[in-house]
Amino acid sequence: MPFWRRKDSAALVFLVSGAVWMVVGTFAGLASAIHLVAPDFFANIAWLQFGRVRAAHTGSVLLGFVTAMLIGGAFYILPRVLGTKLYSEPMGNLAALFFNAGVLIGDVALLGGLSQGREYAEYIWPADVLIVIAFLLLSINFITTIIRREEPLLYVSAWYFVGAIIWTSVVYPVGNVMWHPDTGSQSGIIDAIFLWFYGHNILGLLVTPLAVGIGYYMVPRIARAPLYSQMLGIIGFWTLLAFYTHIGAHHLIQAPIPTWLKTVSVIDSFAMMLPVATVLINWWYTARGRFSKFLVNPAAKFLLVGSIWYAITCVQGPVHSLASVQRVTHFNNWVVGHSHIAVLGFTGFIALAGMYYVLPGITGRRIYSEKLVNVQYWLVLVGLIGFFVVLSAAGLIQGQAWLNGATVYRVIPELKAYMVLRLVSGLPIIAGAIIGLYNVIMTLFRGELIES
Ligand code: HEM
Ligand code: HEM
Repeated sequence: MPFWRRKDSAALVFLVSGAVWMVVGTFAGLASAIHLVAPDFFANIAWLQFGRVRAAHTGSVLLGFVTAMLIGGAFYILPRVLGTKLYSEPMGNLAALFFNAGVLIGDVALLGGLSQGREYAEYIWPADVLIVIAFLLLSINFITTIIRREEPLLYVSAWYFVGAIIWTSVVYPVGNVMWHPDTGSQSGIIDAIFLWFYGHNILGLLVTPLAVGIGYYMVPRIARAPLYSQMLGIIGFWTLLAFYTHIGAHHLIQAPIPTWLKTVSVIDSFAMMLPVATVLINWWYTARGRFSKFLVNPAAKFLLVGSIWYAITCVQGPVHSLASVQRVTHFNNWVVGHSHIAVLGFTGFIALAGMYYVLPGITGRRIYSEKLVNVQYWLVLVGLIGFFVVLSAAGLIQGQAWLNGATVYRVIPELKAYMVLRLVSGLPIIAGAIIGLYNVIMTLFRGELIES
């Protein structure tokens, strides 16, 4: 049987491509970090300039690594919670092809200097088209699988997976203003609002629900206990949709957008604590008294720590949506610290958790080396804690200095040590990404066969 028809082949392609992009993306992060320590390091190498390589970094890690790896997990889990088989493996593989081609073309174009210049929406139009086609294929596949299900109860993971895919099929083309292929933008302040509708929802309506769906599958299985509350899960789903969709304006508190829009975005940033709490209460209550089971299984460790980063991110988030707090935290490294604990700590950790959890089921082989998963876990965790501490401190220094009227160039020398420490903190993360990819490849070819 050809590979693309085989059971779980689409899941496998998404997972492996995610592991590859994690390596590529973290190296692009390294190149960006080097710029902030030694701006002339890549002088005269056009394709490695900060403006290009930073965008390639965020595109590769956010879409290539985290999104693809989470979708891989969803491909495996969705049919299982529905008690049916995936509607179409070839369609899933085609989606993986379009998606990865989109990220690749987007990144290569960025490095070549072709960018639409809008944060997280930098990819040029042809790349956007490929990615949107991928999401349409995913929508058809997931929805049809649901329609054909044999299990009458729609488990909460299925809600989150299908929600994420359908929402993104709308958010991506709208936020990228794809009806203007040449610029991918509107003009003026309207464009800022469109952009942050996108930049915000690609986090909250794509990677967040995918990660939450994977957690909802894994937690009861690892704890060997029934889910604390399916109802809480559904409440979390609908309140995420109700509150998250329209708070992108909290990225624009310092911009001349309508005041009512800022006010709504701040109030509902706090309301976001409700859907977040439904997830954390549900997971932690399910695991109550059984946390030790999460410490012996390396995939479960990634999941547990991912849930803790989610809690930290979502306490920090509402607080720094306040205008008074943003006077110190906006436009500086504080937000970059938040980004890393959110995208890597929460969604990235859960993507890795999902991958290691489902890979044996897909390949029929045990993970090649659990020890290496542990090594990767510690490397990424130590690096990320380093990022969080160093970037938050650097951000506070910048913010306080600006508040006191110091001009940017006077503050920059003070940041040097922090930028060096950030670079150093990134190295274990990169090492973790390489070890992870090695372990995945070795599992495919050398993993011990599981007797059935
Ligand atoms: C309760 C939940 C959350 C709230 C209220 C929140 C709030 C915010 C706010 C207000 C900002 C803008 C800060 C500024 O520019 O000064 C921000 C930035 C950001 N947030 Fe969150 N956040 C939350 C959760 C998350 C999650 C779950 C993720 C990722 C999965 C995430 C990823 C990011 C990223 C990447 C940025 C940086 C955007 C940029 O490049 O400017 N956040 N968040
Ligand atoms: C897979 C792991 C990683 C993820 C998910 C990730 C995610 C992100 C995100 C979302 C941003 C945008 C931040 C913002 O605009 O607020 C960013 C920026 C950045 N990241 Fe990463 N990152 C990862 C690993 C790394 C590594 C290993 C390094 C360095 C060695 C690094 C260095 C940077 C730098 C220098 C920036 C630009 C910050 C700026 O503009 O001031 N990242 N990353």
